[in-house]
Amino acid sequence: MSTKATPQREVFATRGAFIFAAIGSAVGLGNIWRFPYITYDNGGGAFLIPYLVALLTAGIPLLFFDYAMGHRSRGSAPLAFRMASKVTEPIGWFQTGIAFVIGIYYAAIIAWAGCYMFFSLNQAWGDDAAGFFTGSFLKAGDPGVSFEFVPGVLIPVIIVWIVTLGILLAGVQNGIARFSKIFIPLLVILFLALVVRALFLPGATEGLNALFTPDFAALSDPAVWIAAYGQIFFSLSIAFGIMITYASYLKKKTNLTGSGLVVGFSNSAFEILAGIGVFAALGFMAAAQGSQVSEVADSGIGLAFMAFPTLISEMPGGGIFGFVFFACLVFAGLTSLISIVQVPIQAVREKFRLSNRTSILVIGGAMAIISILLMTTITGLYVLDTMDAWANNIGIVGAAVVGLIAVGWFARKLPVLRDHLNAISSFKVGWFWMIILGGVTTVVLAYMLISQIITYSTKGYEDYPMDIIGVFGWGMIGLLIVLAIVLTLIKWPKKTLDEAEASIADSVEQEKKGA
Ligand code: ALA
Repeated sequence: MSTKATPQREVFATRGAFIFAAIGSAVGLGNIWRFPYITYDNGGGAFLIPYLVALLTAGIPLLFFDYAMGHRSRGSAPLAFRMASKVTEPIGWFQTGIAFVIGIYYAAIIAWAGCYMFFSLNQAWGDDAAGFFTGSFLKAGDPGVSFEFVPGVLIPVIIVWIVTLGILLAGVQNGIARFSKIFIPLLVILFLALVVRALFLPGATEGLNALFTPDFAALSDPAVWIAAYGQIFFSLSIAFGIMITYASYLKKKTNLTGSGLVVGFSNSAFEILAGIGVFAALGFMAAAQGSQVSEVADSGIGLAFMAFPTLISEMPGGGIFGFVFFACLVFAGLTSLISIVQVPIQAVREKFRLSNRTSILVIGGAMAIISILLMTTITGLYVLDTMDAWANNIGIVGAAVVGLIAVGWFARKLPVLRDHLNAISSFKVGWFWMIILGGVTTVVLAYMLISQIITYSTKGYEDYPMDIIGVFGWGMIGLLIVLAIVLTLIKWPKKTLDEAEASIADSVEQEKKGA
């Protein structure tokens, strides 16, 4: 590939464009279906305590860390880690690999939501929403590996990939930022309307009581704390390369920490709003069925695609409510998926000096093909569930803890990153940020990671057979580690390193002025 053909690095035109894109990335499937059930499963109202602790001690500090890493070197995750120290580059590739894996299954969930928008209109699931989801819709067989495709899922997944790659081909400003600027306000308006509607349903208070009544005993359970940190990472799009990549498109003088606070608190506000809306609706459903909220609140994927359809069938005007709910999932999901897919695209583009278009077509195309092959068959559901569990609970947590140890303890770059943030930002960070990040958060994350590895090794996952867990859980993590090492061994083009060094030299100037 000709070096001359490589276009200039893309930028977000304004800070507002970046904030919309970053909120678009953060607010996603994690907020609308994951947060409500995680909160409910982990002590209800009491979960908000570990959640807020995790937001303040890990979420926001790591968001600042990712911003500083990407902005200082103006590089994707591998380049940013390479510039911190030669030996830390594999961590950047591992984060990139995790984004690759998440993108593969995230697209499938958006495609399901797209189908359910239309299913809602005539309540296509009849009176057995759970059976419809796994049976008529996904045609899920036994857990295993199969190449028997399900056309009703195949076509929507292809459409999701065409839309995603189309937005990315339009560029960082004209594609990512413009799309987020339109769809995030639309999402907020639609979702607010849904929540208000849900709050007026009979039984809504029961749902809110179930969500917010604190079970303080849960706070002594380490698993509750692990769940809170895991939720914050996934939801804020941190520790898997996204925020490093987005920050690398920012202009030299940008208020990084100020933007981070806006993004972090907007994301949590939306998340809590989603919890209120979903549980008000579940309260109505429980009242209509004469059962307890605990009986109707199912976990994760089940909550959106099994419990919600039942609710839609039972409420007056349910068809429209369902259409809007699943449209919200699609919009929130797409603005996140574009950020996830951009991570490997930018990383490979820099390492091999490809043009933007080539990188999108090669890497985005590869992700689309793998996604179609793995997610649209009769065993896609189990593969998705396994990849999601390992990518989040081992991959993201592992990348965060190893990244902090490598950059903070060994390369000792936290003071430099602090100076970089302070030189250009309104909200200053100091020793507290470094101690929280390099000390408390690192130790808590290390504990989480070890306990999760022990749990999965000894207890397995969801009674899935060993071949599924071995290939799509442990095997996937192993493959990402090997690939991270191999990609690190490939030499960087001189021009890429020169550009990153020039960016760091610029940053050093700014830091001196800021000191
Ligand atoms: N941050 C994105 C979400 O919450 C990945 O879904």
